[in-house]
Amino acid sequence: MNIAIFYFSATGITETISNHIAAILQGEGNSVKMKNIITPDSRQSQVNFLKYDAYIFGFPVFGGRPPLIVEEWMRTLNGRKQKCSMFFTYGARDLELAHQITYYLLTQANFQIVLSAEFIGKHSFNVAEGWALAEDRPNHLDLEVATEFALHSLTRFQNDSEFSIDLSDFAYKPKKTREFRGFWANFYPLRDIDDCSMCYRCEKECPVNAFDAFSGEPNRKRCIQCMHCVSICPEKVIHISNASQLFEKFKNRFGLTEEAVRKKRSKIIF
Ligand SMILES: Cc1cc2nc3c(=O)[nH]c(=O)nc-3n(C[C@H](O)[C@H](O)[C@H](O)COP(=O)(O)O)c2cc1C
Repeated sequence: MNIAIFYFSATGITETISNHIAAILQGEGNSVKMKNIITPDSRQSQVNFLKYDAYIFGFPVFGGRPPLIVEEWMRTLNGRKQKCSMFFTYGARDLELAHQITYYLLTQANFQIVLSAEFIGKHSFNVAEGWALAEDRPNHLDLEVATEFALHSLTRFQNDSEFSIDLSDFAYKPKKTREFRGFWANFYPLRDIDDCSMCYRCEKECPVNAFDAFSGEPNRKRCIQCMHCVSICPEKVIHISNASQLFEKFKNRFGLTEEAVRKKRSKIIF
């Protein structure tokens, strides 16, 4: 089969899972096209949905849903009733409504969703000093689930039957937002000017054109705090301040002890 994997990956976790899935599918004799939709240009370029037999969509969870710019991108697609599966990577906190929202948007975009999956990945905020959540994930067990997911997706793509997936476990839980009001207000990247070689990667590769390499700061109205600039900076001169204080509060609020995180499992949703 000719399969396309569309993914968004800011710090490389979703890309790691996508690469693994691609390798498994190629090993089964399929041709796989991979596309990271991280830049504005990549999200604007037209997708030719006549070229592929099936699709896999992989996104990180940002605030309990796919990144909003990815949601906007999904609204522009027309899948012509073709089959797809979807998966999410998340930093061991919660996926909240990520499956349902994506299921809804891909259905609206005329795709048949045959399978979903979720994978624990190192939390994006680990790029900040003092934040350390799910540092060793995805591990070999997570990748085994990714192998299973690739093979089950393939079986369902090749089978003419219609498949439905059961998302009833992901009931909507209203958020208690008040205690987190203002929590992320200063969680923005900032460059330490002295050691910067001015390569402009932070500015050129920002998914939302928010970062200004010259001033070393993002436009806070646009920045989605995805951590891409921090993670790609060759000199490692882009930082987040005071992450450790927030991390303590965050862990306590969500009961994210080391043991609780270790017990979290990647899984396939049939
Ligand atoms: C702005 C932002 C919000 C996030 N929100 C969540 C969340 O709600 N739940 C969670 O478990 N992880 C959350 N994460 C962590 C990411 O989902 C996780 O680390 C993901 O694997 C990153 O994928 P990437 O490296 O491909 O971008 C968030 C990360 C960012 C940057």
